[in-house]
Amino acid sequence: MTSNAKYLLLCLVCLIVASEQCSQPYPFEKYLGTRSPYRLVSNNSFSNVNFEGCDPIKIWMIVRHGTRNPSISNIESINARLPKIRDLIINSDSLPNEFIKNRDLDLFKKWKSRLEVDDETKLTVEGEEEMLLLAERMQNRFPTVFDNIYSNTTYKIKYTFSQRTKKSAYYFAAGLFGKKTAKDVWFPEPSKKDPILRFYKLCDKWKKEIKEPVKDSGEQNKFKESSYMIKVVTEVNKRTGAGNQLSVSDVLLMYITCGFETAWNKYSKSPWCSVFSEENFKVLEYLEDLKYYWQDGYGYDLSYKQACPAFGDMISHFDLTSPYPKTTIYFSHSGTLLKLLAHLGLYKDEQPLTAENFENMRNRKWRTSLIDSFATNLAFILYNCNGTKKILTLHQENFVKLPCCPDSDLCEFTKIYDYYSQSIKSCDFQSMCSISDN
Ligand SMILES: *[C@@H]1O[C@H](CO)[C@@H](O)[C@H](O)[C@H]1NC(C)=O
Ligand SMILES: *[C@@H]1O[C@H](CO)[C@@H](O)[C@H](O)[C@H]1NC(C)=O
Ligand SMILES: *[C@@H]1O[C@H](CO)[C@@H](O)[C@H](O)[C@H]1NC(C)=O
Repeated sequence: MTSNAKYLLLCLVCLIVASEQCSQPYPFEKYLGTRSPYRLVSNNSFSNVNFEGCDPIKIWMIVRHGTRNPSISNIESINARLPKIRDLIINSDSLPNEFIKNRDLDLFKKWKSRLEVDDETKLTVEGEEEMLLLAERMQNRFPTVFDNIYSNTTYKIKYTFSQRTKKSAYYFAAGLFGKKTAKDVWFPEPSKKDPILRFYKLCDKWKKEIKEPVKDSGEQNKFKESSYMIKVVTEVNKRTGAGNQLSVSDVLLMYITCGFETAWNKYSKSPWCSVFSEENFKVLEYLEDLKYYWQDGYGYDLSYKQACPAFGDMISHFDLTSPYPKTTIYFSHSGTLLKLLAHLGLYKDEQPLTAENFENMRNRKWRTSLIDSFATNLAFILYNCNGTKKILTLHQENFVKLPCCPDSDLCEFTKIYDYYSQSIKSCDFQSMCSISDN
């Protein structure tokens, strides 16, 4: 093919992709909650990071696995329910309308679930790419702490006991060292309840007194019954021509599937997204944010206090006089990343998120779509600034200012040590997590 012909073809592809995206007049991809793909929040700059007079010495980074498949329970519900809802939609005589257009109807006609129970929570192709590209960008920014030659004394790379974190670690390593070398990278044996990477699996008190009640009777359950949610369900029923056959859980399943399919496919639109208005998405996103706020965030002190072993691991990595390992990278889960963010005091709103204050919280900081996407990552880079230790903090590859250094990206290590001294010196995980008998 001549280069002219290639160019024409490329333009054609761009036009198709652009018109595809035009079909939804608002950025629905911004409201997908914990199923947001990383490409929507990442900092795609490859440029080297330099602070005058400072040399990067070490890094400690923790990464949520990349885009994955749904859980078993989601797969079962999707397979059981969505084909029926698809049929309702394609047989409805009130369609197309301004939301579900002819293009969406065509996508619905072709839609079928391709998931089997065995695929549950596995890393997807999008997730592989997220890891490769994230590693490449981080290496470009900090070439001296991300050596491109692998050695197991400079690198400590660890993942939790799961396929999705194991594969994430492999593809990240492939981004750093190339696919061939990545095969030879030595990873420690993962443990089912890792005290650093997945501490909350060991926190009985949190499981029993926070996680379970939040799930069974938390704010998100109250919000599910609010007038906002009732409106979403009514509108989706009307828009799809389903009469009143769709329940709250059907609508949630459609939102979940819209999220996953958007994450998996950058170039094609999921028809399940077309049934919602922008306001509907905002309500559904809030429902999601409520759950994580109370389960892993600021809702209860214990949720984030118990992150002290992970935080302490970072501090001791930088405290050690030994230059090795230089680079620590952990592959973990949303539950760890969110608790750590709250442990640090980041994205803290002045008011708690509740089922009653959706309106007041429209401009909240705690938005899982931004702070808890797939491949969410938190990195601390230790610098030597003419003998003074300083730390740069990155979340989603963007500089974040810690509460103890509100005016500067680089924060003195001693300031961090003082500000979080309670966490560092009195991290009694056993006692905070044990269930008292009385
Ligand atoms: C390096 O790899 C070997 C296995 O090849 C392992 O026994 C050893 O513990 C590793 N060292 C470190 C520091 O992880
Ligand atoms: C580094 O520190 C030394 C003394 O500790 C001082 O003389 C020198 O000017 C400093 N250099 C810079 C670039 O700040
Ligand atoms: C994105 O990364 C580049 C370095 O590659 C950095 O200079 C820039 O400040 C980052 N953007 C934000 C918003 O932090």
